[in-house]
Amino acid sequence: MTVIHKIKELREFLNLYIRDDKSIGFVPTMGALHSGHCDLIKRSSAENDITVVSIFVNPIQFGKNEDFDTYPRTLAEDCKIAAKSGANIVFAPAENDMFKGGIVSYVDVENLQSNLCGLKRPGHFRGVCTIVAKFFNIVKPNKAYFGKKDIQQLTIIQKMTDDLNFDVQIIPCDIVREQDGLAMSSRNRYLSDSERAHSLVLSTMLKRAVEQIDGGQISSQKVINMIKDGFNAIESLKIDYVSIVNKQMEDVDTISNGDIIALAVFIGKTRLIDNHIIGEPVCF
Ligand code: PAF
Repeated sequence: MTVIHKIKELREFLNLYIRDDKSIGFVPTMGALHSGHCDLIKRSSAENDITVVSIFVNPIQFGKNEDFDTYPRTLAEDCKIAAKSGANIVFAPAENDMFKGGIVSYVDVENLQSNLCGLKRPGHFRGVCTIVAKFFNIVKPNKAYFGKKDIQQLTIIQKMTDDLNFDVQIIPCDIVREQDGLAMSSRNRYLSDSERAHSLVLSTMLKRAVEQIDGGQISSQKVINMIKDGFNAIESLKIDYVSIVNKQMEDVDTISNGDIIALAVFIGKTRLIDNHIIGEPVCF
């Protein structure tokens, strides 16, 4: 596996493959790789001739009071994990190469953002879309792999790709969980032992919600209240949002298949998200 830091070098390297009509799979990440990322890399490597993994903690997707400064940066370890999972290239650009001279052009998807993380983290998806668009232009992938844990991100990236005619297929990948149900996230490593124990309430409440819905409950508000009651029983937990939305990320009153139960909470200082798409196999 090759580690490349410069955009120009990556382009020269990839051009050799593009000339030979080789397919390129792309897994964008911010590093601190975990089994969820490994799944994306393995899938890309099975479906493409070469797989590029980007590792870049993107400053423009973090809000002022968020964890940009403390976000884990573990490049050496990440390279080992990426190589083991089948990556051919790790692309880890420096900030001054990605934002040479400062940028004033941004990509913003106008709808799909007025709820969930779009509402709670203003400017976040503009930062995500801009960096992903830049990576698409640099890597020119045939397929790009995104986890369903960030379901709003996945939905917005798909819309951006369609709207701007990026010639790339977006591949949604299932949420990967720890054995006890906690969804994999780079931020899980912030959790103390007691916070880690409390974090299980996310998957537990999702499971209870699915049980209620399977039992015939269709009132969104009733399911939301049940989840909030479960969360409120934990002192160190602060609810950011508990919502049930349709594919357009709009709140629904009556639940139907394909709707999404979306959760975001702070456990101590750590913000965790999770979700379940109603009708999809339960994996917790
Ligand atoms: O999901 C992430 O890790 C990031 O939002 C992404 C897609 C790598 C863009 O920085």
